[in-house]
Amino acid sequence: MKNITMLVASALIITGCSSNTDFNEDKQNTEEEEVTEEEAAEPVAGDENESREKEEDTEEQAVEAPQLNEKGELTKPESEQVLVNREYRLPEGYEPDDLTVPDIPFPFEEDHPKKQIREPAVKPLEELFDEASEEGLQLYAISGYRSYDRQEAIFAANAAEDGEEEANQYSAKPGQSEHQSGLAMDVSSPSADLALTDEFGETPEGQWLKDNAHRFGFIIRYPEDKTDITGFQYEPWHLRYVGKEAAETMHEKDQTLEEYYGVEE
Ligand code: DAL
Ligand code: ZN
Repeated sequence: MKNITMLVASALIITGCSSNTDFNEDKQNTEEEEVTEEEAAEPVAGDENESREKEEDTEEQAVEAPQLNEKGELTKPESEQVLVNREYRLPEGYEPDDLTVPDIPFPFEEDHPKKQIREPAVKPLEELFDEASEEGLQLYAISGYRSYDRQEAIFAANAAEDGEEEANQYSAKPGQSEHQSGLAMDVSSPSADLALTDEFGETPEGQWLKDNAHRFGFIIRYPEDKTDITGFQYEPWHLRYVGKEAAETMHEKDQTLEEYYGVEE
């Protein structure tokens, strides 16, 4: 596992973060569909199994995958359930218009675009932090929104340090990072030295997030046992807002966003 502390430190330098803290950065269709007259009718002999099979098919139906335009870019980058990865890219010029700084602790004082997350995720994130705090846990927000250009600079710095192939395992290329969507927030805790490392996943805070993030509409986007599906290394610190319904479905079915859409390779 790559220690990314140095890498992100260089990213911080590049992006002008003046903090001296040594941390790193980096529908399901509801089943309550209207019952049609046909379905409500008393089943005739032999129809019962067929209708049960039909029901099961509906349950397993994958959610419709996001659409790409002729340039291979997402047509609805503003969707709260947007799938962003190497194949499903955000448009270069996409910048959310509802970025907001949530009222949660950051381990640095100065204003910075990375303090922001999109408005729909603000209250859920604040509630998550409040409940964690009530449980005696100490979560800090480290890095949220990143523009296309900033992601480009971060990836270039990482590639210069480690080579493109290796950088590609832990750092997304511009257009391929959820941070550009404004729906992701990296978090850590003093118990992990406020670092974005695997060890955060073993802390009480990391464990609590794994078990509870979905209740607030968030997923742990890059799980340890799904790196072949997500295409990125384990990131127990990377929270992604998808809304409560989608998050609960994915938690219950142990799915990544790729599996939720049925587009895993
Ligand atoms: N570390 C994640 C994959 C990103 O760069 O967006
Ligand atoms: Zn992240």
